[in-house]
Amino acid sequence: VDDMISIIDHLTEIFGAAIAASFPTLNDVPTIISAGTSPNPKFGDYQCNSAMNISKVLSAQGNKMSPRDIAAKITQNLLPSPLIERCEVAGAGFINVFLDKNYGINAITSILRNGVRPVSVQKQRIVVDFSSPNIAKEMHVGHLRSTIIGDSIARLLEYLGHDVLRINHIGDWGTQFGMLIAHLEDRFPDYATVSPPISDLQTFYKESKTRFDSDEDFKKRAYAKVVLLQGGDKDSVKGWQLICDVSRNEFQKIYDRLGVEIVERGESFYQSRMEALVSEFEKKGYLEDDNGRKIMWGVVPGEGIPLTIVKSDGGFTYDSSDMATIKQRLEEEKADWLIYVTDSGQATHFKSIFSCAERAKIIDYSRHRIDHVGFGVVLGEDGKKFKTRSGDTVKLIELLDEGLSRSMAKLKEKKRDDVLLPAELKTAQESVAYGCIKYADLSHNRQNEYVFSFDRMLEDKGNTAIYLLYAYTRIKSIARNCGGDFANNIKKVLETTTVSVTHEKEWKLTKVLLKFPDVITKITKDLCLHHLCEFVYEVSTTFTEFYDVCYCIVKNRQGEITSINGGRVLLAEATAQILGVCFHILGLNPLDKI
Ligand code: ARG
Repeated sequence: VDDMISIIDHLTEIFGAAIAASFPTLNDVPTIISAGTSPNPKFGDYQCNSAMNISKVLSAQGNKMSPRDIAAKITQNLLPSPLIERCEVAGAGFINVFLDKNYGINAITSILRNGVRPVSVQKQRIVVDFSSPNIAKEMHVGHLRSTIIGDSIARLLEYLGHDVLRINHIGDWGTQFGMLIAHLEDRFPDYATVSPPISDLQTFYKESKTRFDSDEDFKKRAYAKVVLLQGGDKDSVKGWQLICDVSRNEFQKIYDRLGVEIVERGESFYQSRMEALVSEFEKKGYLEDDNGRKIMWGVVPGEGIPLTIVKSDGGFTYDSSDMATIKQRLEEEKADWLIYVTDSGQATHFKSIFSCAERAKIIDYSRHRIDHVGFGVVLGEDGKKFKTRSGDTVKLIELLDEGLSRSMAKLKEKKRDDVLLPAELKTAQESVAYGCIKYADLSHNRQNEYVFSFDRMLEDKGNTAIYLLYAYTRIKSIARNCGGDFANNIKKVLETTTVSVTHEKEWKLTKVLLKFPDVITKITKDLCLHHLCEFVYEVSTTFTEFYDVCYCIVKNRQGEITSINGGRVLLAEATAQILGVCFHILGLNPLDKI
């Protein structure tokens, strides 16, 4: 069974070989391949743009040769490839590459026969740290972004066949728990036996913080509690667990709604590891005293910002826990690749962490890949920080509820309540609501700020989830409407029918579908999912162009099918399959009926 081929990788390989064969004395000239972007088909489907560079390098060596001649020579030395129909040298020395239609037919046939198989990769163990809200504090839109982006990255890597560990690094440790437990004792003295009815943990947090800031005795007790907690005192641990459970239940509601799976392993998990790490680092001389704090510099001492590994009161910090996460994940989990998904505001934190881990020889870049996947802040439609009308932080559950009611209004506006059964309508409502929220986030370059707008994400036109979900459902129904083997046994159809690529629009659609492996390769490199969203949108719009002029099914006046263009129905079905896989990676739940 063939996996799909990444066309750009393949062309880079064979053109690289042709360049090496043509100019054996040159090394380090990059092979530049790009997907043709010109709407004019005469420029080819892909281009090799290396000749201009090579010409410059040659002339610096005293060899004059025109880029056009160079391009011609490369083309002559190109080994035959089943992907290439022909190459043409054009303009200043571009090599235009035209894809072979038989290759296109075979690749689409393979999708229909074997499913959308990803480009094969060497299986790696990967830890994706995402979502990671803090106990007793609000889970905010930043955590929502981390949840959506992290989940999608994990889905991508799982789809590629990697062994992915999804970690929720919740903030469940630190000095604030002393004050929370002390407050718990006062408010609910018998908490150890009777579960306290804390429903609103934020208020509880604020109350205890107010006391902490104004009451010296309370403050002292709070500090004592932290020591007890970290020492494993039974009652304190019980109180801590109770408080964590309240938050945990709230977080889980969000994950359940969004269909996100994640394993909790909070900061507390690392307590003993942080202790071990500090004594190891101390022995190795990595730690420096700075007014009672113990700090650590990265590979270049004095450069960047040092980490605070131990506070002057002896406590640990966010820095200490992240040093412990790297060590635990690389050494104990034996991960090959670590990914941390947080807002870009934490970029310097992770830079220092990575640098210190490199210095301590925990990270070895010849074996490990480490990414901080940063993202921009979420803004409201007024361009200011995302807040409710009254200026409060937006509660995520309320945000999801608003998504649900907006999506239902949209479905009713489209009169879907006339067509769908109540259960179908509810599924559609959820798919559209959560799909829109996720897709709006993922379709923007994660590094930019992002404006949250229900109105925009629910627009029917343009690159929105609702447009794409509808498109998918329509495309998916084409084969089904044909009935017979088209609906039930596509493999059987393939025995007698060939995918049609003769019409210009059929061929155009085919070529867009064949880009899928390249898009996957690209997003695996830069972990920017908006490329996948752009691809999905291109597939849908190209499909529409095709469908407008290429009839798949012809019906008579009575609405009965009089003829089926099987080769086109196959193309439509392959389109649906590719879109289905992309939706899966993006965490969208496509529907048969909407
Ligand atoms: N709890 C942190 C926050 O709310 C995010 C933690 C991200 N993960 C990590 N390993 N630092 O900002």
